[in-house]
Amino acid sequence: MLKVAVLISGTGSNLRALLEAASDPSYPARIVAVGADRAAAGLAHADEFGIPSFTVPFADFASRDEWGEALERELAAAAPDLVVLSGLMRLLPRGVVARFAPQIINTHPAYLPEFPGAHGVRDALAAGVDQTGASVIVVDDGVDTGPILAQERIPVLPGDTEDTLHERIKPVERRLLIDVVRRIATGELRLDAPAIP
Ligand code: GAR
Repeated sequence: MLKVAVLISGTGSNLRALLEAASDPSYPARIVAVGADRAAAGLAHADEFGIPSFTVPFADFASRDEWGEALERELAAAAPDLVVLSGLMRLLPRGVVARFAPQIINTHPAYLPEFPGAHGVRDALAAGVDQTGASVIVVDDGVDTGPILAQERIPVLPGDTEDTLHERIKPVERRLLIDVVRRIATGELRLDAPAIP
């Protein structure tokens, strides 16, 4: 059974979908811990599912590296086989990536390498494209530059706002994330040699 730690910053709707998937006994992964870099509303989902959670508030540390060291200690205590960034709105320091790589994946609301970074949905709208997407990638030291594990195109519709487009992207992200975690857990997908679709 693959042990998964999930890191969030926000509402955690994708986390919740993963928690629901993992509560099915036939799903080959279990969530062992949920962490956040702030008092994220999504931590309530972990409580509801009886999963331990921790917060390592970025604002409490003098530097990003010190924050990263504290985060790494919390993560290591949960001994995960896989770390999932599910809406963590902060770059992981190199030390954290080095500790868990390549067993760290991230969901992103755009068709990478298009529109990386913190505003993937807003940037796609601003660019005036007629389609964007959702991606699940391996985390490396760059900003959304790691190997792509799964991705899917999503149309931008006339009149879309950042919210309406993001709400159409998220269900696709959830489906891709749940499937990628399943394939990692069964050994179908190997993060040391990812098959790029
Ligand atoms: C998701 O769309 C995720 O891809 C995005 O934040 C959202 C979190 O939603 N992450 C990024 O943009 C990272 N660059 P949620 O809190 O409702 O799951």
